[in-house]
Amino acid sequence: MNTNRVRTALTALVLAGSGVLVTGPSADAGPGTGPGTGPGTGPGAGPGTGPAATAAATPLQELVPQPVQIQPHPDITFTLTQTAKIQIATDTARKPAELLASILRPSTGYDLQITDSVTGDGVVLLNNADPKVGNEGYQLDVTPKQVIIRANAAAGHFNGIASLRQLLPPKAEAKTKQPGPWTVPGASILDYPRYQHRGAMLDVARHFFTPDQVKRYIDQIAAFKINYFHLHLSDDQGWRLEIKSWPELTKIGGSTEVGGRKGNLFYTQDQYKDLVAYAQNRGITVIPEFDMPGHTNAALASYAELNCDGKKRPLYTGTDVGFSSLCISKDVTYKFIEDVVKEVSAITPGPYFHIGGDEALSTPDADFVKFMNRVLPIVKKYGKVTTGWHEFIKTTTDTAPIPQFWGTETSDANVAAAAKRGNKVLMSPANRIYLDMKYNKNTKLGQDWAGLVEVKTAYGWNPGAYLSGVGEASIRGVEAPLWTETIKTSADIEYMAFPRLPVAAELGWSTAATHSWDKFAPRLGAQAPRWKVQGINYYASTQVPWKK
Ligand code: ACM
Repeated sequence: MNTNRVRTALTALVLAGSGVLVTGPSADAGPGTGPGTGPGTGPGAGPGTGPAATAAATPLQELVPQPVQIQPHPDITFTLTQTAKIQIATDTARKPAELLASILRPSTGYDLQITDSVTGDGVVLLNNADPKVGNEGYQLDVTPKQVIIRANAAAGHFNGIASLRQLLPPKAEAKTKQPGPWTVPGASILDYPRYQHRGAMLDVARHFFTPDQVKRYIDQIAAFKINYFHLHLSDDQGWRLEIKSWPELTKIGGSTEVGGRKGNLFYTQDQYKDLVAYAQNRGITVIPEFDMPGHTNAALASYAELNCDGKKRPLYTGTDVGFSSLCISKDVTYKFIEDVVKEVSAITPGPYFHIGGDEALSTPDADFVKFMNRVLPIVKKYGKVTTGWHEFIKTTTDTAPIPQFWGTETSDANVAAAAKRGNKVLMSPANRIYLDMKYNKNTKLGQDWAGLVEVKTAYGWNPGAYLSGVGEASIRGVEAPLWTETIKTSADIEYMAFPRLPVAAELGWSTAATHSWDKFAPRLGAQAPRWKVQGINYYASTQVPWKK
């Protein structure tokens, strides 16, 4: 029983199912639009979508997330054929080109050779996009002979490819050869994200997931332009990454999980490096999390000296929270943390290290501050920027660390104060975008401590106008966490993440001006045929008009 979480349930249940829409008048709305302004988005679907909205239904109207501008060219189509090549004019496009080829070769049966020569039919990846699309945006132009994707960096090419995948027939995602034709509707798209950070988190501590299961989820999130993958690698129930200088962490702490299954339930450093590279090759940066000073029973069970009384704790396979704490007063605690940060940072190319910091209910407040005052400099020493659940932000005035808001209220004084100082806030309000919350009272998987989160509820908020005192300019982005107390298989992951993960992607990418449930729901529903081809076990919410 998560007693500490029960107190939040009442507020959340009031919100659940209310279908509140937050409509932010424009992409630059900033603070002040507030939740609950009712349905309807006023000026329509925003820039560039007008023509698409009046044309016959084509994949152009079904893209998730919604692009900034789409200019349909209804008299043109492009068809990918046997002779098509993936042509790259810039080396930054090589990995994106390889990804596209790896998806389309099995389904089309074509060679789709990758070539440096830009000539003939095929998909062409060029540099020098319009500077306004930045590093993550792209321009996609469909001509009779070529699909041309322009981007200023690899990230933009990955995002352009994610759009192209949705413009092809759903069977393009098949793992076996399918009949064509492989037709793409004529259009010019110009697109870039609202926020720099669109994230997904997977808790591999409560239940362990194999590298192949994690890769399957990475593939699924990459298709929606998610660019950060947060791995929750330690908790009371398990320590999931080999730390060479503290081997018992995985030997003991990685030996079990919720429910008591036994095994080598951890990643070696080589396996982790492979996961990081796999994500990188899909445009995704991994953020490793080691939760501290609470949520540490697995470490406390592995090493006696990490406990204030010098005694190992028993392994824990239940689902309570808030009962464990590292020993704040012992120097060995900080030696341990430094070793972990050092080893993990050395194999993590991304700039972030997540220190957890949530629900430290067994750590007195003064100790929590003392602890963070020692830990934050360690993260900096190894060249990483601290990310953490928002509780830690009260312990520092440094503006670089990123608080991740996971509360169920719409105000938090410490987060607002940090935003005022200049910290950027990552938004994961539990009653909106926690993927482990049940959809409704009949959902078999998941929890309900933050409320029931149907698809419309997950969509019905504006990240840039949600927390008081934390306006658009203070928002770094949106992350959808998936805690796994009740989640054991890939099918379970997919049931909770689909369709809410694409909702998070839309909230993080598309301008506030496009926010409209009535327009979003059919676009979301249009993903179903593709998910069926991909074998994704999605939740067929009755709120969404699913395409057959
Ligand atoms: C959390 O859900 N304890 C971050």
